[in-house]
Amino acid sequence: MGHSAWCPPTLPPRQRPEDDIDIAVLASGSGTNLQALIDAPAVRPHIAIVVSDNPEALSLRRAEDAGIPTAVVAWSDFGNRDSFSSALADVLEEKGAKGVVLAGFMRILAPAFLDRFPERVLNIHPSLLPAFPGAHAVENALDGGAETTGVTVHFVDEKVDHGPIVEQVAVHVETGDTTDSLHARIQVEEHRLYPRVIEAFVSGRLFIEDGEVHWL
Ligand code: GRF
Repeated sequence: MGHSAWCPPTLPPRQRPEDDIDIAVLASGSGTNLQALIDAPAVRPHIAIVVSDNPEALSLRRAEDAGIPTAVVAWSDFGNRDSFSSALADVLEEKGAKGVVLAGFMRILAPAFLDRFPERVLNIHPSLLPAFPGAHAVENALDGGAETTGVTVHFVDEKVDHGPIVEQVAVHVETGDTTDSLHARIQVEEHRLYPRVIEAFVSGRLFIEDGEVHWL
């Protein structure tokens, strides 16, 4: 019996944009970025749940006021990052969230969490990454004598404040700036940028393909 050449089946062209997705917003603190997302009409209906690691977080009250389901996954109930992250992922999946938006979430997620939401986790950080990663980005920019800092929105990978960058906005440091005054100007930009990015994300127009960010 002769061998005939094997032909791969013809695949349909990849359909883009993807379908709309629902998201979970994770927030540990005051939640002004969450509020900007709630106030964005094209984003709000896609927020399936808001989760905090901190039962006292004002972000939970903001979600309740908007009629959005909330949950607390308290760090203290878990002995380690793996079990915390896996409980968190369970809560999000149960709510049907297909994407995850970090908005001032102060816990580092385990790699196994990212595997459950592959290339579907976004973060906002108050510096022009890769400059000034970490929890004290604004203070570090000021102390480091930076003339310009800003905001970065990026997809999250396994390193802290790292991953494919979606967009950055610069903010000038002014003479006499304090951490608070500089952070306040950075937050003005955050509240403009994050709703724009997340609107594209929930409507399937922002995604990673072959390691590159696409924003249609
Ligand atoms: C923001 O500055 C954000 O960039 C950083 O944490 C802060 C959260 O602020 N990741 P808020 O709780 O949204 O007001």
